[in-house]
Amino acid sequence: MWHCATLFLLICKMTTGACEQGCNSPKKQAHCDSEQHNCQQYALVPYTNNGILSEFYETNKTISIRGIEKKFTIKQNWQDNGVAGVVWEAATVLSEYLHKTYSLQNKTVLELGAGTGLVGMVAASLGAKVTVTDLKKALPLLQENMDLNFPNNSATAPHVDELQWGEDVRKYLKFPFDFIVGADIIYLESSFDSLVETLSDLTKNSINTKIILSSKLRYDRVKVFVSKLQDRFSSVQLVCKDNKTNTVVYECN
Ligand SMILES: C[S@@+](CC[C@H](N)C(=O)[O-])C[C@H]1O[C@@H](n2cnc3c(N)ncnc32)[C@H](O)[C@@H]1O
Repeated sequence: MWHCATLFLLICKMTTGACEQGCNSPKKQAHCDSEQHNCQQYALVPYTNNGILSEFYETNKTISIRGIEKKFTIKQNWQDNGVAGVVWEAATVLSEYLHKTYSLQNKTVLELGAGTGLVGMVAASLGAKVTVTDLKKALPLLQENMDLNFPNNSATAPHVDELQWGEDVRKYLKFPFDFIVGADIIYLESSFDSLVETLSDLTKNSINTKIILSSKLRYDRVKVFVSKLQDRFSSVQLVCKDNKTNTVVYECN
């Protein structure tokens, strides 16, 4: 999987779409379908350690989320962890969307493909009980980031656990989650079926669980994924488009 990281990072957005409302009026964005944004163009750029991708080589990042006082310190490790070792813009967009749209106090949240864990940390700092998950090899850095931002075994710290899409999720079904969230996890077409299967398995005992996914628009991949979601879930809605980062947020249940 890590091998796909370099190819993935060669994709660079050159222009943005036409829907100008950004994420400031979340629910009003449903009409703003990604299909309208066919003026988007993408290009391959040379892969370089200190050029356009230099942000991935910052070992520590401080991230502020609009409206939240706490600052989040993220330790990054692109060299060893690849895509799971850096913070993606979709994580910031999803964090802001969650904060603006929902009250998370005492809600339960499960994050899939958490990477460095920004979304889970934001949810926890807003009062949610959070479990952040990823592939096994991503967990040590994920745990380090939780310890960095919720020191001294803080009771509010997200719990870190392994969850590989397509695998058995029964241990997560004991207590249904109010929200299942994921930032920038729609990127590898080969994982789409297992991700949809996992989302379906995780929600089969609870009609109240809301799935919220953010994704940078890359070619038609998001459309392919959304149509797979529509095959399994009764409601799949585009609820936000952030033009600055060319990122969309979908809700599904
Ligand atoms: C592009 S990164 C996004 C990380 C983080 N959510 C963010 O936005 O900063 C994609 C994440 O999905 C995880 N992932 C990829 N395939 C997975 C799978 N089959 N099961 C679980 N996690 C997976 C990767 O390890 C990585 O952390």
